[in-house]
Parts: sequence; structure tokens; C-alpha cells
Amino acid sequence: MDTLDTITGERLYLARIPDEEKYYKRYMELLNAKHVLTGTGNEPHTLEEVREVIAEWRKDEGNMTWGIFRKSDDTMIGDVCLRYGYEDYDNGGPEVAIMIGEAKSGYGSEAMKMLLDYVFEEKQKLFGKQISIINLGLYKENAGALRLYGKLGFEEVMERPNIDNGKVEIVMQMTRQMWNSLKNK
Ligand SMILES: CC(C)(COP(=O)(O)OP(=O)(O)OC[C@H]1O[C@@H](n2cnc3c(N)ncnc32)[C@H](O)[C@@H]1OP(=O)(O)O)[C@@H](O)C(=O)NCCC(=O)NCCS
Repeated sequence: MDTLDTITGERLYLARIPDEEKYYKRYMELLNAKHVLTGTGNEPHTLEEVREVIAEWRKDEGNMTWGIFRKSDDTMIGDVCLRYGYEDYDNGGPEVAIMIGEAKSGYGSEAMKMLLDYVFEEKQKLFGKQISIINLGLYKENAGALRLYGKLGFEEVMERPNIDNGKVEIVMQMTRQMWNSLKNK
């Protein structure tokens, strides 16, 4: 999707990644950080791939990808997205994914809370409708992501082997109702 709201929090803001070479380079650097490659199981990305993938997201009405920026110095430190079309979850909800280029910074939790507040705002409509559930998939061995999502209150609904590499994947979900009761605690 080409137009995105900017979402502002305490230390961070989520915003469209600018169409500038320096942001593509920075994004490549973040995607290729060691703990990110380990967590996602991805191969390193080239600059050309980064340009292409960002251009694809702009055209895709089922994809909302924000850069995560630190307020203090406007540095991009990661990304967070809501998307359809990668995995099928059979419940009408999009998938969420997050990446932070610095490990254990506390930014992952903050950015994900900002996104959940935004998605489940009372009158919010995304992808043309009110979202009542969001889904995610991660590798069981991805300790950082498992801790982050578990801590925020995502519920594990299924484990399954990945058909390509045999690693165990965990599927987690968060509903509007769950988030509303969790965030008020
Ligand atoms: C998962 C990820 C987003 C977490 O970001 P982060 O900024 O480190 O998150 P936080 O600092 O808010 O950490 C959240 C919790 O996880 C813990 N944690 C983070 N990384 C960890 C790791 N590698 N091993 C164990 N615990 C970890 C933190 O200590 C914290 O727990 P605590 O509050 O009890 O101390 C980041 O590591 C990342 O981008 N990983 C690669 C991409 C990825 O796997 N994305 C998720 C799949 S969609």
C-alpha cells in the first residue's frame, strides 16, 4: 500500500519508508543483521532485492509495511507490517511481522504495542474493514520473537512443521477483544 498513517509513540514512530537510496541501504543493513537472518531463516538481501520488494509492497493493496523510526534521531531501526497473501489463516485477519535491527533494545515491544493499539482502535478500518483478529507465524527456535509475542499476550494456536525446511513453526493470534482487555490491565 502506498499511503500509510504515521503512528507516533513514546520513543518511536512508524512511517512509510521514504523512496530514497539511503533508506534502501539502511533497510538492507537491518534485514541482513545476524540475529534477523537467524530469526527469519532468510538469506541476505541485495540492494536490488530491497528496491524491488519495497516497490512491490507499494502496489500491493494487501500489504501495509511501515519503517520503525527512533524519534530522538530519526534513524530507521526496523520494520513492521500487516499483510495478506503469505500464509492463509482462514479467519479473515491479516498476518503481522516485525523486525528490529538491534537485538533486545526494548523497541520491538514498544513498536508492536503501537501497532496493536492502531489496528484495534475503536473506529479503525484497515483493508476496507474492521480487523478483529491478527495472526503470525514464527519458528519455535526464534527465542526473541517467542518471548516478545508471548509477553504481549499473543496466544499460541498451533504448531506445524515447515514443509520446506522441517523447522517447527508456531502460529499465534491476537483478537480485538484480547487486546482490549490486556491493555487495560
Ligand atoms: C523479535 C524481535 C523483533 C524482538 O525485538 P527486540 O527489540 O529485541 O524486542 P524487545 O527488546 O522488546 O524484547 C522483547 C522480549 O524478548 C526478549 N528477547 C529479545 N531477544 C531475545 C533473544 N534473542 N533471546 C531471548 N529473549 C529475547 C527481551 O529480553 C524481552 O523480554 P523481557 O522484557 O522479559 O526482557 C527482534 O529480535 C528481531 O527483529 N528478530 C528478527 C526478526 C524476527 O524474528 N521477527 C519475528 C518473526 S515475525
